[in-house]
Amino acid sequence: MKSKQKHIEKGSVQETLIIPLYGRKLCAEQFPTLYKDEYAAKICESIDYDFSGMEKKKNNLMYQFGGLEGAMREKDMIWEIKDYLKAYPKAAVVNLGCGLNMTGRMADNGTCHIYNLDFKDVINSRNEIVSVGEREENIPCDLNDFSWMDQIDGSNGAIFYAAGVFHYFTIEQIRKMVIAMADRFPGGRLVFDAVGKFGRDKLMKGTLKSLGMNDISGLFYVEDEAELMGWSKKVELKTKKSYMQGYYKLDDPNIKGIHRFMAKLCDTLAKMYIYRMEFIA
Ligand SMILES: C[S@@+](CC[C@H](N)C(=O)[O-])C[C@H]1O[C@@H](n2cnc3c(N)ncnc32)[C@H](O)[C@@H]1O
Repeated sequence: MKSKQKHIEKGSVQETLIIPLYGRKLCAEQFPTLYKDEYAAKICESIDYDFSGMEKKKNNLMYQFGGLEGAMREKDMIWEIKDYLKAYPKAAVVNLGCGLNMTGRMADNGTCHIYNLDFKDVINSRNEIVSVGEREENIPCDLNDFSWMDQIDGSNGAIFYAAGVFHYFTIEQIRKMVIAMADRFPGGRLVFDAVGKFGRDKLMKGTLKSLGMNDISGLFYVEDEAELMGWSKKVELKTKKSYMQGYYKLDDPNIKGIHRFMAKLCDTLAKMYIYRMEFIA
């Protein structure tokens, strides 16, 4: 980890990377048997960002739940990457909207190739904060400009994952991106999290508005998985799993009953799921 302090601009889409980053740090501190993270705390220390407001709230149950959400999503994505790498050990592991997460390295099998993609200023910060690994590349891009796909070597398979990213895209943008990926990377896989309409309109709305996204009506959500079907003959929706408890149990002595209750609400009311799509070869 490099020591240089890097500033993160307030009120930008890029700033959204702070929430899951701090969440992972908090979760590793408060629920250590459930979630371990050797990077999050060090990265927080390396950034010139005022975490004091977050620190004050860290014992609040709701806030702790926010941390759990970020960490469980990270664990789910790691599970999915490792699963794909069993069949394609040299695959491209492509982190769409990477922020400052280290998911690729946490799932690294020693032979895959890790790509981290995000806006230019996020990648600049990332380059200053974390040294690039031997089998790792950081690609500055706007994911809506598909030329980033030219830089991915998918000849040994490719797993794409987006953690907390698709909420900022319109449904049409996601559909176009998925179709383009399926055309280019047959045999590939995409994993992403999404919320339902209630989740978008009630839980995400505040964050989206603070980023100047006042009209959220076109932004991506999944109310029913049928909405993800029929996009292309090359895309098949394979699994939909609960984000909070579909992969792991919420086992840690510090987890309270209210946390479990809220996890259930995430499934039922907010429809928070991890979706897996396969690109037909
Ligand atoms: C909530 S953060 C999640 C970061 C990371 N995936 C994590 O789990 O910590 C969303 C990230 O998506 C990136 N992002 C949003 N829209 C993007 C776009 N059109 N192109 C590239 N990156 C984008 C943001 O810059 C930000 O880093």
